[in-house]
This record gives sequence, C-alpha cells and structure tokens, in this order.
Amino acid sequence: MKRWLSVILMLSLLFLSSGFVLGQAPKPPAKSPELLNQGKKLYDQNCTSCHGPAGDGKTPLGMALKPPPRDFNIPFNQWPHAKGDLKKVFDLISRGIPNTAMVKWNQLSEQERWALTYYVVGFSTPKPPPKKKK
Ligand code: HEC
Repeated sequence: MKRWLSVILMLSLLFLSSGFVLGQAPKPPAKSPELLNQGKKLYDQNCTSCHGPAGDGKTPLGMALKPPPRDFNIPFNQWPHAKGDLKKVFDLISRGIPNTAMVKWNQLSEQERWALTYYVVGFSTPKPPPKKKK
C-alpha cells in the first residue's frame, strides 16, 4: 500500500515537472551556421541603417539619434540593456526600447528574432577592448 502511494507520488511529480517545463517560454533554437546566415540577412535588411554593417552604430542616421544605437562591438556583458543575457537581447528585439529609435520587431517570427539575436551578439568582443580609440 505504502509502495503504491510513493509510486503515485513519484509519477505525479514527474508529470508536474514536465508540465512546468512545457509551460515555460519556448526554448531558443540552437545556434547554427544557417541561423546565423538568416540573422545576417535580416540584419542587413532591417538594422544596418542605424546599427551599421559593422554593428558599431556609426551610420549617418545612427549618429543623429539620441540616444544613439548600441555599439554591438563592446563586450557582451557590458551591453547596457542585455548585460550578457541572450534572452534579454531576444526580448529587446521583440519589444523594442521605449523612448528610443529602437522599435519592436515582433512582426518577425520567433526564429527570425533568435537569428538576429545570435547575429548581433556575434559582433561583440569576448574581452574588454584596449582603452585607445581608433
Ligand atoms: C531606427 C534606428 C534603429 C534600427 C533600425 C534598429 N535599432 Fe536597435 N537600437 C537603436 C537604438 C537608438 C538603440 C539604443 C537604445 C538605448 O540606448 O536605450 C538600440 C539598441 C538595440 C539593442 C540593445 C542592446 C543593449 O543591450 O543595450 C539591440 C539588441 C538592438 N538595438 C538590436 C537591433 C536589431 C536586431 C535591429 C534590426 C532588426 C535593430 N536593432 C534596428 C536603434 C535602432
């Protein structure tokens, strides 16, 4: 009798935890060369006017903006909004940043937004760059 109870308990725990996992936000697609390629295409079409082809934000439009677009070349953990968190980049792209020129891109599919996430983070350097300006 006791045995049965514990078996039932175990099963319901398993059931609950799987439900919990399923109930969470969908898992991001794995980073792959195809996804990065897709990200590059989308970036070139939608983001370069402000963020620039090199991701440094040094475009005529970008430099006229206040606040200016993010320079994606700085170390990822120093990005003011995302702070090194991929999911936050995804959310920023999905929701935009209020009161800035960074609008939301939720008309793009989730996969497209993840492709962009991986692509823009690819601009960042892993280590803080030396202090001198080029
Ligand atoms: C019209 C200009 C404009 C376009 C187009 C644009 N952005 Fe932005 N973006 C900005 C500005 C301005 C900021 C900085 C806002 C701030 O400082 O709060 C920004 C910030 C960001 C950030 C925040 C990084 C961080 O952690 O601080 C991400 C990520 C981003 N943009 C991605 C994209 C992607 C991807 C696209 C293309 C789908 C895109 N942006 C298109 C203007 C633009």
